Amino acid sequence: MTEPLWTSRRLPMPETKPEEEFGVLIEGHTYDGIKEYDNPMPKWWLYTFYASIVWGVFYLVGINVGWIDTYEDTLKKENARIDAIVAQAAEASPEITPEYLREAVDSGEYLESGKAAFAAYCASCHGQNGEGLVGPNLTDSSWLHGGSLMDIYTVADQGVLEKAMPAWGAVLKHDGLLGVVSYIDSIRDTNVEGGKEAQGTVYKPE
Ligand code: HEC
Repeated sequence: MTEPLWTSRRLPMPETKPEEEFGVLIEGHTYDGIKEYDNPMPKWWLYTFYASIVWGVFYLVGINVGWIDTYEDTLKKENARIDAIVAQAAEASPEITPEYLREAVDSGEYLESGKAAFAAYCASCHGQNGEGLVGPNLTDSSWLHGGSLMDIYTVADQGVLEKAMPAWGAVLKHDGLLGVVSYIDSIRDTNVEGGKEAQGTVYKPE
């Protein structure tokens, strides 16, 4: 008779310490020769266990009293933070509407800086006084792209790229654009001397 396969594969028993060192034998706990000894839990295990109890009590009280944020609290706080960022961004670049432009131009707040920006960025094509060079005369009443504040803003912001009018939005940004719009609004219909001949159609404000 051949030996069953498993006997030849049996692993050697691990070395154990002598039985006297096992600790206190728990009487009546011997089953099939397996005995149980009353040994203390390892210290690391015990302290981890105590710590988890302390944490559990702290957490239970904390989450109800409010020392600790619930997921909902965290969500609300994060949403509020995002709302604040969005509101700040909206304030930094408000929506441009005809009313908004009217108010900005009428306030006169941007005129001075706008005049300087015009001299720096626009005069090379529109003339030192807006009388027109390569670009059209901005002191007459005729406009190629419309003469409303919104039209002027849009052309200054986005340019007329196929006609060599650059887009200035990225350079001038919010304040700069309001500046050149304010300045152009202040020189329109002044018909400075030596101005370029009128182009486009006469703009009549409603
Ligand atoms: C490189 C030359 C050049 C520069 C610099 C330039 N422009 Fe122009 N601009 C033009 C040309 C050319 C046109 C006419 C576009 C067309 O024919 O459609 C124009 C048209 C315009 C118009 C529309 C005029 C109308 O009749 O409707 C406005 C407004 C304007 N420019 C504002 C500005 C401002 C503001 C700046 C400076 C921030 C500026 N431009 C700088 C060349 C220039």
